Amino acid sequence: MILITMGSNLPEKEVERLYRDQFLLPSDHVQDIYQDGYQHETWADVFWRRRFRHSHREDPELKFVFQTSPSNVLEIGAGYGRILQKLLEWKNKDTSAIAFTGIELCTYFQTYFLQYQNLFPSLQRVRMIFDNFLTTSALKDNYDVILLPMNTLANFPFVQLDSLFKTVHRYLTDEGLFLFSNYKITSSEQLIKHINKDTEYSGDLLVDLGSGLLTAEYYDFPSTFTHYGAESITYICYSTFSREYALLKRSIFRSSTIFLLSDYLKQRLSANGFSVVINDDSSHSSVYGVMKT
Ligand SMILES: C[S@@+](CC[C@H](N)C(=O)[O-])C[C@H]1O[C@@H](n2cnc3c(N)ncnc32)[C@H](O)[C@@H]1O
Repeated sequence: MILITMGSNLPEKEVERLYRDQFLLPSDHVQDIYQDGYQHETWADVFWRRRFRHSHREDPELKFVFQTSPSNVLEIGAGYGRILQKLLEWKNKDTSAIAFTGIELCTYFQTYFLQYQNLFPSLQRVRMIFDNFLTTSALKDNYDVILLPMNTLANFPFVQLDSLFKTVHRYLTDEGLFLFSNYKITSSEQLIKHINKDTEYSGDLLVDLGSGLLTAEYYDFPSTFTHYGAESITYICYSTFSREYALLKRSIFRSSTIFLLSDYLKQRLSANGFSVVINDDSSHSSVYGVMKT
């Protein structure tokens, strides 16, 4: 696993503010701040910890998965396997002839995937790959449905957007469907509302790891407008404590969320050889289904 530090590339204004607001402690070094938290073990711990909350979640993209009678389905960013389990056990649907594959960047999900598989043995049919979808050589097939749920698109760095669409294009069958959800942003007005709502929230979370305790603190910078919509920067600090509350480790990450205006998104999809066949805004997220042009 390679965790990339941001080092001196960090915007000075952000760093100043993080020290001023004591999100960064005097003993923290900016050279030790990492880019994106997804590869860190704590991401898997925290996401797994939220599984009970996830179980109430509506995943609006899933209702389109079986529309084209796929013979194989790939989920990008499969986490501990909750989406694949939902698909495998889809109500009134015999999924036994469908091959399911999941690919997940964070290798620390392996143990949680196994635990979830023990709870839901249907997951034994899944081929799970722990690797980066953008660079993996473990995927050999083409898929009838490729799925990127839970607004994960917004957490891909903007510079990787074309690479993501090109990679999906490569692994999708000619009649295949790429399904993803995204934040619902159809106009600049909606974008402004969204930005204002989320500005400068800072929260924390305490997880009992058994061996110790974990806090996760979030610092959101106000979003800034960009040519494609907006970007919001969040710093995450994971602190691990012993059961006697001695601080053992602090790990700090900088990650971005991109809010893409739907016109811009459609333009990028089209530039990468896709046309939109589903655009469903009837739930909390915008669901897109796109096919090769
Ligand atoms: C918001 S989580 C959603 C997990 C799962 N799809 C679910 O809905 O429960 C997004 C996941 O995508 C994974 N991910 C991000 N970029 C990835 C990449 N390039 N290749 C594979 N997985 C990736 C992250 O590690 C993270 O676990």
